[in-house]
Amino acid sequence: MKLDSLFENNRAWARDIESRSPGFFTRLQQQQSPQYLWIGCSDSRVPANEIVGMLPGELFVHRNVANVVVHSDLNCLSVMEFAIDSLQVKHIIVVGHYGCSGVKAAMQNLRIGIADNWLRHVQDVRNQHRDWLYQLPDGPIRLDALCELNVLEQSLNVCQTTVVQDAWARGQEVVVHGWVYGLNNGLINDMRMSVASADALAGVYAQALDDLRQRYAAHGQSV
Ligand code: CO
Repeated sequence: MKLDSLFENNRAWARDIESRSPGFFTRLQQQQSPQYLWIGCSDSRVPANEIVGMLPGELFVHRNVANVVVHSDLNCLSVMEFAIDSLQVKHIIVVGHYGCSGVKAAMQNLRIGIADNWLRHVQDVRNQHRDWLYQLPDGPIRLDALCELNVLEQSLNVCQTTVVQDAWARGQEVVVHGWVYGLNNGLINDMRMSVASADALAGVYAQALDDLRQRYAAHGQSV
C-alpha cells in the first residue's frame, strides 16, 4: 500500500530531528512560540515551512485557495486573532505565488465549481485594477501582475481587519508583509508592502503599487 511510505518517511523525519536536536519534540510539546504567521495558497508546490527553512514551532500557518483574506472569513480571522493575541507573532506574511491556478481561473472567468464564489474576491482585485492590467499583454505577464496585485490587496485586507487594527491601537508590534513565491526558481519576491502601523498603511500601499506598476512598465503601452 502506497501510504506505507508516508509512515516510513515520518519515522525517518522524526528520528532525524531528534538526532540533530535531542528532546526537540518534548520541548515543542510544552509550548509553541512562532514569530510569524504565514497566509498562503493551498497549492502543494508552496510548502510554507520548507520555503523559508523553518522547523515545527516556528511558523503559524493559514492557507486557502489563492491566499485570499476576506473580512467576514471567520476561519482566517480566528487564525489571525490567535496568532496576534495569544502567540504574539511579530510578522504576518501574505504569500502568493506566480502561476496560481486560482488567480488564473479568476482572471479568465473559468467555471470550476464552488471555488468560483471564493475566487470572486480575486476578480474584485482584477476589476479594481482593470484599466492598468488590461494594457499588459494577455498571458503569463498579465497573470503574474494579477498574482502580485492580489497579494497587495490581500495584505491591505489583513491591515484593515479589526484584529490588526486593535493590535496597532494598543501599541503591539505587528508588521504585515506581502510576498510572491516563484514556482520556477523557488525564490520569494518581496512586494515591499511592509506595514507596521495604521498611519503608515496608505503611504506604503501607494508606494508598493507604484513599484509594482514600474516593474511592468516595459510590457505595457502606458502606465
Ligand atoms: Co495558488
